[in-house]
Amino acid sequence: EEGLHPAQYPWSHGGLLDSFDHASIRRGYQVYREVCAACHSLDRIAWRNLVGVSHTVDEVKAMAEEVEYEDGPNDQGEMFQRPGKLSDYLPPPYPNEEAARASNQGALPPDLSLIVKARHGGADYIFSLLTGYREPPAGFEIREGMNYNPYFPGNAISMARVLFDGLVEYDDGTPATTSQMAKDVVTFLNWAAEPEHDERKKAGLKAVILFSALTAISLYVKRHKWSIIK
Ligand code: HEM
Repeated sequence: EEGLHPAQYPWSHGGLLDSFDHASIRRGYQVYREVCAACHSLDRIAWRNLVGVSHTVDEVKAMAEEVEYEDGPNDQGEMFQRPGKLSDYLPPPYPNEEAARASNQGALPPDLSLIVKARHGGADYIFSLLTGYREPPAGFEIREGMNYNPYFPGNAISMARVLFDGLVEYDDGTPATTSQMAKDVVTFLNWAAEPEHDERKKAGLKAVILFSALTAISLYVKRHKWSIIK
């Protein structure tokens, strides 16, 4: 059974020439880190990817250094722990799939790097999923440990509702309502799935300007050359 069709939301990056809202990406990273990262990896994003997007280089260095990474072998052939660097990838919550399933009653929290692209409905779907938890309608049998969500295909999802008003404290003072956090984390995940998004739109605009100019010139030259024939 398909899930409820999500509403279409007016994402600030939705328009042909609109870039991502980078303040929202920054808040969304905070939601990912403080909430989602307990269960979901973000394998394709390295610390350096955040530089100039959501944080300054010094901020990112400090965030990376708070995480311990295994490295090695050293001269003695031993593995060792060291603080994270810009080139490290964001740390996964579990060492492997077995551990992930064992902590989630058999269900596997998917990697979120490409989730906005991978799921039908994209950003609208994930926003709806995060904000759409409610009591099941009368007569809907829900298994122990499962949660009712009308947007999820089949309507029973093993992820419980995770966002509640006031769960995080944003450093820019934005009130952390459930829908604000959902919007921000989805904007962050949308960026993660399409880090080239802003550059792509800029290049598109340049291409349109350039080809319009070339077309205008060639029309002018054509009229000029053919003017003697008329
Ligand atoms: C599934 C997002 C937090 C556990 C999912 C899915 C998304 C998602 C998009 C895929 C749904 C689908 O297949 O269509 C998020 C976000 C979070 C978050 C954005 C933070 C705001 C968490 C947390 C946990 C968790 C904290 C664990 C306590 C799971 C599990 C699934 C899942 C087990 C698989 C559900 C199933 O297939 O039945 N999540 N999640 N998630 N998530 Fe999360």
